[in-house]
Amino acid sequence: MSDRAAELVAALAGLKAEAEEQIRSAADGEALQRLKTDYLGRKAGRVTAILKELPSLPDDARRPVGQAGNEVKTAIEQALAAAEAALAAASPAEAADLTMPARPIWRGALHPVTTVTDEICGIFRELGFTRAVGPEAETERNNFTALNFPPEHPALDAQDSFYLGPATVLRTHTSPVQIRVMEAYQPPIRVVIPGRCYRRDPYDASHAPVFHQVEGLVVDEGITFVDLKAAITFFARRFLAPGVKVRFRPSFFPFTEPSAEVDVECPQCGGSGCSVCKQGGWMELLGCGMVDPAVFEAVGVDAERYTGWAFGMGLDRAAMIRYGIPDIRMLFDADMRFHAQFVDAP
Ligand code: PHE
Repeated sequence: MSDRAAELVAALAGLKAEAEEQIRSAADGEALQRLKTDYLGRKAGRVTAILKELPSLPDDARRPVGQAGNEVKTAIEQALAAAEAALAAASPAEAADLTMPARPIWRGALHPVTTVTDEICGIFRELGFTRAVGPEAETERNNFTALNFPPEHPALDAQDSFYLGPATVLRTHTSPVQIRVMEAYQPPIRVVIPGRCYRRDPYDASHAPVFHQVEGLVVDEGITFVDLKAAITFFARRFLAPGVKVRFRPSFFPFTEPSAEVDVECPQCGGSGCSVCKQGGWMELLGCGMVDPAVFEAVGVDAERYTGWAFGMGLDRAAMIRYGIPDIRMLFDADMRFHAQFVDAP
């Protein structure tokens, strides 16, 4: 054995004695943990440091030093384990307190748009509507042409819509799913269709290039504007407040005739005028109308036999009205101070 090897073996024996002495007098688990790092730590442990010298020792010295090192390491590990076990047994404070209340943990929240979507579909379910969905990437035909948009309509412009290909767009509304439903099912039809929509809009307090709508479609024999008015009024009062005032204003959509926009009395101020309703006392809730016979013709529904009505409503707006959210961007920016408020939303 070389001199250096003998020195190292002696040093190891010294470390073992020292470690055992310190372990015996360690006061708590933390002290033991510190000792473990001191002696056996991978980076700067004192035993480890000696073992790191092995490769530079002469061949015949490596074995005795290595062996001594391993023995010391095992001895220290055993002493640590024994001391830990003794500590746990001796002081109940070190054992887990099973009666301690658990720390509250963030368990997630439904997004306000999800909540109003489910609520709205639930209200229409009471009226016999089922839920349908369609793809976000649509054909130009389903999104526009079959819905009776004239080819020169500005919505078809790449300025206003996101085109994925020459005849494929990210749907600009949920109305193309009307086409899909009428092509897949025979009347009577009563569906609500929630989903994401896309338009080249600015990202500001009231616009976002991606937003949510829910579409409604009814097709049956003998359906009139009276059914539309009754269903929408019923819905608005269930969704907002039992006595809320609802007003139908004439409007225009290529796929409905006649068309209307529906306003509700501002739920924030009750109609007296505030910043939410821009002092007007009313908030626009949705667009609707009687299905245009040209749409029935595009999907092969007999317009002599059937009539129908449809509506489209912005779900982000609905959530904003419902929860008094002043800026649509709050729905899209992942600020936990906002979302944490919805943990217990119904
Ligand atoms: N699709 C229309 C829009 O995006 C809304 C609408 C749907 C109007 C159904 C009438 C009937 O604004």
